[in-house]
Amino acid sequence: MKEFIEKLPKAELHLHIEGSLEPELMFELAKRNNIDFKFKSVEEVKKAYEFSNLQDFLDIYYEGAGVLIKEKDFYDMTMAYFKKCHEDRVVHTEIFFDPQTHTDRGIAFETCFNGFHRACEDAKKNYGITSHLIMCFLRHLSEEEGFKVLEMALPFKDKIKAVGLDSSEVGHPPSKFKNLFDKCREEGFLTVAHAGEEGPPEYIWEALDLLKVSRIDHGVRCLEDEKLVERLVKEKMPLTVCPLSNIKLRVFNTMKDHNFKDLLAKGLNALINSDDPAYFGGYMNQNYIETAQALDMTKEEIAQSAINSFESSFLSREEKDKHIADIKALLN
Ligand code: ADE
Ligand code: ZN
Repeated sequence: MKEFIEKLPKAELHLHIEGSLEPELMFELAKRNNIDFKFKSVEEVKKAYEFSNLQDFLDIYYEGAGVLIKEKDFYDMTMAYFKKCHEDRVVHTEIFFDPQTHTDRGIAFETCFNGFHRACEDAKKNYGITSHLIMCFLRHLSEEEGFKVLEMALPFKDKIKAVGLDSSEVGHPPSKFKNLFDKCREEGFLTVAHAGEEGPPEYIWEALDLLKVSRIDHGVRCLEDEKLVERLVKEKMPLTVCPLSNIKLRVFNTMKDHNFKDLLAKGLNALINSDDPAYFGGYMNQNYIETAQALDMTKEEIAQSAINSFESSFLSREEKDKHIADIKALLN
């Protein structure tokens, strides 16, 4: 099974690039940039990675991102992620970035953006991995702040495929960002949003109806609402599920309690992703392996997740078909 997963071509559609910053690189960057860092050793950082909910994690995640200063820092972090993709046979990835985490510290939008984008180009050259960038708005901040970062992003519009919504979910429903997302769609961006991770099914309805999303990020709480499940199935709405993240942030107690297999069984378009792999204990293959083992998934169910990942991506029909044919060849 492990061997099958390692060979399987996969697309990753839910990955926060700032969440791929490994403690070792975090320390190197803190040193390189002369930052007086809260943590004094790699071990101390790793010890702090015990979370009881999303907010607990986000506090440390924003602290960690504080070591990213120069374009090269953003480039190095992104290239380190692409190396993991290459090792895990992730052949296509759609990467979230959080500009407000950086612009609010006085880092120019283009400094972070150019680092991400240059790495995407080099990953195509070095590894043949294709990618898109998705700009996320931090939902704990105001819609007005979101409009400000959108202005900064417009000169780079043709290099940003979609916009998303992340950070603290509960208390910050999608409806808070309706006007901003209307404007983003007018500008030609596709939209996605985190919903139904810790937040209730109503947030998923709002993401669909008000933000007109192409995908729901997480969405695991949809099973609490039968009518919602019916609609998600009918619309083949992708749910970018992140199993290790859900365990670390205590959305489910253990992997055996995870509902990934139930989502597939209901006919939902669910797929496995890593979310913030440096914080949650593993990249794509680790997520696939631990989920498949705990839930006793068949090869067909594992392959379904990978097929769903390409179907749900923003690749062209032709590119999707090519990758899906490669997966089907592995099943025969
Ligand atoms: N930002 C980084 N990871 C996140 C997650 N799992 N949920 C919401 N915001 C995030
Ligand atoms: Zn996420």
